[in-house]
Amino acid sequence: MKSHDICVIGSGYVGLVTGACLAEIGHRVACVDSDKKKVAALRAGRVPIHEPGLDELVKRHHKSGRLIFVDTITAGMHSKGRAAEVVFIAVGTPPRQDGSADLSSVEAVAQEVARNLKRYAVIVDKSTVPVETGEWVTKTVQKFNKENVPYDVASNPEFLAEGSAVKDFLHPDRIVLGVPSKRAETLLCSVYAPIKGAEVLVTDVKSAELIKHASNSFLATKISFANAISVLCEKVGADVTLVTKGMGLDKRIGPAFLRAGIGFGGFCFPKDLEAFHWIAKQKGYDFALLRAVKEINEFQKDWVLRKLEEELWNAEGKSVAILGLSFKPDTDDLRFAPSLDIIARLLERHVHVAAYDPVAMPKAKAQLKGVRFAKDPYDAAKGVDCLAVVTEWKEFKDLDLARLKKTMRNPLILDGRNLLDPAVVRAAGFTYRSVGRP
Ligand SMILES: NC(=O)c1ccc[n+]([C@@H]2O[C@H](COP(=O)([O-])OP(=O)(O)OC[C@H]3O[C@@H](n4cnc5c(N)ncnc54)[C@H](O)[C@@H]3O)[C@@H](O)[C@H]2O)c1
Repeated sequence: MKSHDICVIGSGYVGLVTGACLAEIGHRVACVDSDKKKVAALRAGRVPIHEPGLDELVKRHHKSGRLIFVDTITAGMHSKGRAAEVVFIAVGTPPRQDGSADLSSVEAVAQEVARNLKRYAVIVDKSTVPVETGEWVTKTVQKFNKENVPYDVASNPEFLAEGSAVKDFLHPDRIVLGVPSKRAETLLCSVYAPIKGAEVLVTDVKSAELIKHASNSFLATKISFANAISVLCEKVGADVTLVTKGMGLDKRIGPAFLRAGIGFGGFCFPKDLEAFHWIAKQKGYDFALLRAVKEINEFQKDWVLRKLEEELWNAEGKSVAILGLSFKPDTDDLRFAPSLDIIARLLERHVHVAAYDPVAMPKAKAQLKGVRFAKDPYDAAKGVDCLAVVTEWKEFKDLDLARLKKTMRNPLILDGRNLLDPAVVRAAGFTYRSVGRP
């Protein structure tokens, strides 16, 4: 196996995991970030995000010298006197107001990479970007590559999921390599050679870009489909968990991502859905299905408020404990978390909100106003009219229901993730409502 010199630009959820895992499979990696505080923290051994297994990998490879952290692209592309052969771009591509992806960081990085080219390199886009971004990156590099150093621009979309990112990176279902030349293909295949068991799909650059947007949009569609079914189940008294189980047993459908709940969030699905819809429209196609997926998701985020009103009449003046703030368990990521919209909609209706999350509290405190932050689920439930499960953290499954009931003013549980056992919760004396279950 050959060891490569790799530079990863952007050391967030994707960049840091990519850098640490590439070091784990034997490469020499420089992780770059423009956020100097983040770089200083990483150098001091502090991993700024919560991601199972990441801490250990980062510390081990940083100590061995195989993984370094720098705050300029120049330093990252020329660490220890060796020029990077592969440069991954893993910066953020946040949504603009109109739904399009803001690619200004990708452009800035492409310019700087071009200025620092000293030998043939493959510049790989790992950020999630709309189709044809590779062409723009190529044009940009061309313009700023004054010494005409040879290069290729490739697309290698990342499919890791937060909460299991390290495992997903090291044991992926597939590795997609969108490449413009055999040379780039050979180099990238060599980089990923130590990862066994994954199908490597080599495509052109545009197809690879589309694979990422299409995959995320399809997964979001499955979730919204299950959520739409749950609404119907609630109307007729059927059980969505049985309906989706029955659907998922069909191998053509599969059970994954068919769980009803209070809607999807995070830094990927909402923005990628919007950006995919936007780019399709730019190209002259109204991808109306994606609009419907978003509308169903928005409707679902009103579930807590709807059920609260069904049970307690007016929401105004009532108090609710929100359990779970991160957009899913095992991460501290709050970006586009459903909890944020749910809380905003409750506050708008003058509901008193208390909240608790096992890991996302520091980030939540920095951005949520008008919420009482509790020290544990029981503290959150103190004196409230209703408790809502918003993120399916494992620890919420084993709550002491008798203790909870004693502390609440009114024993109502709204389970937005179908986490609890209805029979057990009702036997403990609660009024219990879950998503799409009778
Ligand atoms: N988070 C996920 O689960 C996930 C999964 C797959 C793909 N993606 C995609 O990967 C990309 C990155 O997502 P993320 O969640 O890691 O974002 P992030 O915000 O956690 O990380 C981005 C990092 O890039 C840094 N950065 C921004 N501009 C820079 C520049 N000019 N030079 C150097 N560093 C710069 C930021 O400081 C930040 O640390 C996005 O396009 C996202 O859609 C994310």
